[in-house]
Amino acid sequence: MPLPSGSRTAADPLLEARGLTRTYTLGSGSVPAVRDVSLMIEEAEFVALQGPSGSGKTTLLNLLGLLDRPDGGTLTVDGREASGLSENERADLRRDRFGFVFQTFNLIPVLSAEENVGYPMALAGVPPDDRRSRSMELLAAVGLEQKTSVRPDLLSGGQRQRVAIARALANRPAVVFADEPTANLDSKTAEEILDLMRGLCDSRRVAFLFATHDPRVVNRARRVVSLHDGRIESDVLSTGTRT
Ligand SMILES: Nc1ncnc2c1ncn2[C@@H]1O[C@H](COP(=O)(O)OP(=O)(O)OP(=O)(O)O)[C@@H](O)[C@H]1O
Ligand SMILES: [Mg+2]
Repeated sequence: MPLPSGSRTAADPLLEARGLTRTYTLGSGSVPAVRDVSLMIEEAEFVALQGPSGSGKTTLLNLLGLLDRPDGGTLTVDGREASGLSENERADLRRDRFGFVFQTFNLIPVLSAEENVGYPMALAGVPPDDRRSRSMELLAAVGLEQKTSVRPDLLSGGQRQRVAIARALANRPAVVFADEPTANLDSKTAEEILDLMRGLCDSRRVAFLFATHDPRVVNRARRVVSLHDGRIESDVLSTGTRT
């Protein structure tokens, strides 16, 4: 019986995967994309999931973010076992506890920056006035207070990713999942976006989990989980010079 939402106790990890497995079937063959992965993510961690192309980073991120279901193993969110939840319950949990940032930003082109940020709040039933003030606050936090009424096509790549980050934070998530968030950004912009996310991780106590090839992301992570052929090869806290 799942616990009601918001009943996480201090002893419960935010996210805990045990022995997760995901195999894709392809014609008559099968591809084991994630094999026996056990991983815990705690509050306000800043974690990079790295590994060669095809090592299972996106598949694992999608399992942890409740966008996909494993074939084996268990996943708990706030101490609640996710496999027993219905699709609607999983969608509610995603909306209330998770945020997502994508490589291609995935903003809604006909909505302004403010409306894009407000959209997840509308889905959560937040009244329009509260939506608007929180969107403004979030856009200011990502440095876009001058662009609140602008549509995505008039924004630069870095500005679009800032809107996407503000949107990911709209419902005060515990974890933001970001699959290759810097892949479409130039080097300087990528570094600015990463520094922004690390600041938000600290100031808002939000965990960030990245799937990435980008050494800039790996260098800034406080913990680096390396995948190889769907398995965790290493899981190390960063001793890096960047604090
Ligand atoms: N929908 C799918 N159907 C079949 N096989 C898939 C599917 N998605 C991924 N795979 C396979 O699963 C394995 C892991 O893929 P995944 O996309 O998770 O890797 P990745 O580490 O994110 O790679 P990249 O760095 O290229 O994004 C690969 O062998 C891939 O070909
Ligand atoms: Mg990928």
